[in-house]
Amino acid sequence: MELIISNVMKNYGKKDVLKGVSFKMDNGIYGLLGPNGAGKTTLIRILAGLIPASSGQVLYNGKKCDKEYRAKLGYLPQDLDFYPNFTGRQYLEYVANLKGLSDVEADRKIKELAEQVDLTDDMERRCVNYSGGMKRRLGIAQALLNNPEILILDEPTAGLDPYERIKFRNIISVFSKDRAVLLSTHIVSDVDSVAKKIIMIKDGKVGSMEDGRAYMQRMNGKVWECSIAPDKLMGFQKNHVISNAVPNGDMIDIRVLSNSRPHEKAVNLEPNLEDAYLYEFNYKEAMA
Ligand SMILES: Nc1ncnc2c1ncn2[C@@H]1O[C@H](COP(=O)(O)OP(=O)(O)OP(=O)(O)O)[C@@H](O)[C@H]1O
Ligand SMILES: [Mg+2]
Repeated sequence: MELIISNVMKNYGKKDVLKGVSFKMDNGIYGLLGPNGAGKTTLIRILAGLIPASSGQVLYNGKKCDKEYRAKLGYLPQDLDFYPNFTGRQYLEYVANLKGLSDVEADRKIKELAEQVDLTDDMERRCVNYSGGMKRRLGIAQALLNNPEILILDEPTAGLDPYERIKFRNIISVFSKDRAVLLSTHIVSDVDSVAKKIIMIKDGKVGSMEDGRAYMQRMNGKVWECSIAPDKLMGFQKNHVISNAVPNGDMIDIRVLSNSRPHEKAVNLEPNLEDAYLYEFNYKEAMA
């Protein structure tokens, strides 16, 4: 399977929301990482076939996206609503019906997925009463009912606590084995360890698609640590991007992103993906 996104643009009136987005996907997890308003949901809704692009193309196995593509697609929207009276099972039965599964097939699939997302014991409860994490897991189950080749998840971990976040990430890892997964987030740790490629999106434009390591390697020599007096922190922050600050006795140990040594006693640190993200989205602007 191959999905090619080629120079996709989207504008609302004069507002250019996507300014020519291109990348390719095959099996595995792709992280779409970008700040609020970057254009993640817009791109995802185009890929899910819900809104048309203003120009550009999305090709699935070399063909324009049609009914066949939509049948192979699973989608978890950013804001998933449930009918108040539905139990988890009724909701999944409803979606299975919309997706054209036979009753027998739906029963089998619902049992299997409930197990996989750890909701077997909650299937007869009303899903409005589920916790945030359970709702997300029910959301992923509904997206997988038709056994999609492409799974598109829009901020699936928003509002989840760390335990649920990890649980969700593990579920996605299992499901990504033989399908393409595109996961949008603004949380670096959601995609840091699991994504095979990371696409950073900002102001409707994507940079190069790379694995997390490549982003980190480019940060070599740009991440520094030094200690400064607390009353110097605000001033220092004006001219530098500080990715972490920890009090240490009378001083504050800071982690700084900078092309050059920010302080005479600064030493280089090993970069992580969060540094790369901050550099990409804050440093270039702050230092321009
Ligand atoms: N229907 C619309 N009409 C006009 N502008 C829109 C519309 N939908 C989105 N936008 C604008 O497009 C930009 C990108 O929005 P989008 O929802 O795609 O961002 P996002 O990356 O998903 O953000 P978030 O992290 O907050 O979910 C925003 O400036 C938004 O206001
Ligand atoms: Mg969004």
